[in-house]
Amino acid sequence: MKILISEVTIRDRVTELGAQLSREYAGRPLTILGVLTGSVVLLADLIRATSVPLRVALISASSYGGTRTSPGVLSVNSSLVPDLKGRDVVILDDIFDTGHTMEGLYEAVKGFEPNSVRSAVLLWKTERTAVDLVPDYFGFKIPDEFVVGYGLDFNDEFRHLPYIGVPDQDDLTAAGG
Ligand code: IMP
Ligand code: MG
Repeated sequence: MKILISEVTIRDRVTELGAQLSREYAGRPLTILGVLTGSVVLLADLIRATSVPLRVALISASSYGGTRTSPGVLSVNSSLVPDLKGRDVVILDDIFDTGHTMEGLYEAVKGFEPNSVRSAVLLWKTERTAVDLVPDYFGFKIPDEFVVGYGLDFNDEFRHLPYIGVPDQDDLTAAGG
């Protein structure tokens, strides 16, 4: 598999993002809301790169009937979400592709009456953005290539890889694709 972003490069960037969030949310009631399942690796690293009090929460979003490159109908499950009223929420996902997922999550989170909502992602496929929304925080802009690792999956596999890679056909076949 071709490595697009190495483990060390990710670590350094996540450290920077943690410092940035710590500066901008100092003294505010921050909740980092991780989107299952793709954000869990980033979530674990990012919260340890912050130095301000914060809460961690999880929300689930999945799209049904989509293909690898085009999303289907988005379903957001908020049943795990704690009270966010008056909190400053940062929605954390692995990747901002078309942006439809983040747009749907914004709508769901606003229903909890938070004080503010922003978005953070590790990766932003800038050429694919299809909504009136851009991520407030992002780790890396990437080209329109299908990537896996550091939380991102193909067929629910490859999430454990410590780097961001571009799988080749053999990798995809091995993962049942
Ligand atoms: P969006 O709604 O188009 O922004 O897509 C976001 C979701 O699509 C992400 O949460 C991922 O689950 C999935 N996704 C988009 N691009 C990739 C990729 O390159 N690799 C793995 N998953 C991806
Ligand atoms: Mg995902």
